[in-house]
Amino acid sequence: MNEADSEDIAAAFRARGYEVTSELKKADAVVVNTCTVRQKAEDKAISQIGRLRVWKERRPDGKLFVVGCAAQKLGEKYLKGRFDFINEVVGARAIEKFKDSLIRQLGPATEGEAEHRNLFRSPQTAYVTVMRGCSLKCSYCIVPAVRGPAVCLSPKAVLEDAAAKLAAGAKELVLLGQTVNSYRHGRTTFSELLKKVLRLPGLERLRFMSPHPLYYDEAFMKVLAEEPKLARHMHLPAQSGSDRILKAMRRGYTRGQYLDLLARLRRAAPGLAVSTDFIVGYPGETEEDFRDTLRLVEEGRFSLAYCFKYSPRSDRPGMKADISGAETEARLERLLAAVKKNSRVVLEERIGKIEEVLFETDTYGRSSANFAVRVEAGGTPGKLSGVLVAGAEKNTLYGKLI
Ligand code: 5AD
Ligand code: SF4
Repeated sequence: MNEADSEDIAAAFRARGYEVTSELKKADAVVVNTCTVRQKAEDKAISQIGRLRVWKERRPDGKLFVVGCAAQKLGEKYLKGRFDFINEVVGARAIEKFKDSLIRQLGPATEGEAEHRNLFRSPQTAYVTVMRGCSLKCSYCIVPAVRGPAVCLSPKAVLEDAAAKLAAGAKELVLLGQTVNSYRHGRTTFSELLKKVLRLPGLERLRFMSPHPLYYDEAFMKVLAEEPKLARHMHLPAQSGSDRILKAMRRGYTRGQYLDLLARLRRAAPGLAVSTDFIVGYPGETEEDFRDTLRLVEEGRFSLAYCFKYSPRSDRPGMKADISGAETEARLERLLAAVKKNSRVVLEERIGKIEEVLFETDTYGRSSANFAVRVEAGGTPGKLSGVLVAGAEKNTLYGKLI
């Protein structure tokens, strides 16, 4: 979501004749887009802002914007008090209002629409935000507090944004929302939105991020089964494999329900790859709870899992990290080892099969199941091709064009 916001911010600058540069000393303006989902992210933002003091001393006329979730949480008063060289603080809830800040600091846009580029993904992939905020209340999560409750964009706004990005050269779209499959606007459900986007000319592949296990329905299963352009990959955060911890986290499902959902999804879309997120060291997590998570890694057959140490985001009772740092670290290591072992098995299962690859260069692309795929030559950037997989190594599949 922050990457998507950064793309939009870059586009707002381009509309004023600015270019993105990777060289700080060339920059006339700097935007620090911050995250606060874990304490480490917030700490990084703070030290990044601190390092910009030197740039600002050399460029007193340069403009420094601090935006995003940590800006929302820490507030303008705190940030400007600590770093008096910040020009503007724009919180995550007001990211759309960033353009107003730009006008205040830099004057109105020159002319015309900004073209679509890409800072984070390959040029043929574009993010399309379909909802902002989150209305769930997972106990560990700060997102609802900083981004506010879920607000869905109208299908018209989504389709316009998607069509503009396709017209500018994107081949693959990623629909974004904190619980993206809970999307609903008037009578338009998530499945209906998917079908509308899938009909847009120029689209080769559609992804979305992140769905929540609670919001899958039969209508979605049907779209998944019937629409080959819908990617054969889902990032479906599990967070834990222990029913007790899932309950404490207020995730709204049990490990059994999660596994049933995986089975339903894989029935609808054979070959579907699933990746996930886990948190270790949640307050009260016992060795037994943790082993349930390790078992879920085996049973879930994930292609990839992002694993995080629990980071307290509130002072409410029961939310303090009560497992020692060393134990949490040890569990993280064990979890990472299990994930690595299992994802290698999942990767190797692809050998001898055909992956549908959207090429980014003549030798590299991403498959529908979201694996990195390499061939020796012959891929066409921006085009889909079948690749017969001959080998697998380090999260990458190797094969030949068919
Ligand atoms: N501590 C650790 N990990 C967290 N996540 C969200 N909040 C926390 C927290 N307080 C993780 C979840 C989520 C991912 C984006 O970040 O796994 O899916
Ligand atoms: Fe946070 Fe995601 Fe839970 Fe919403 S669904 S509260 S964003 S973890």
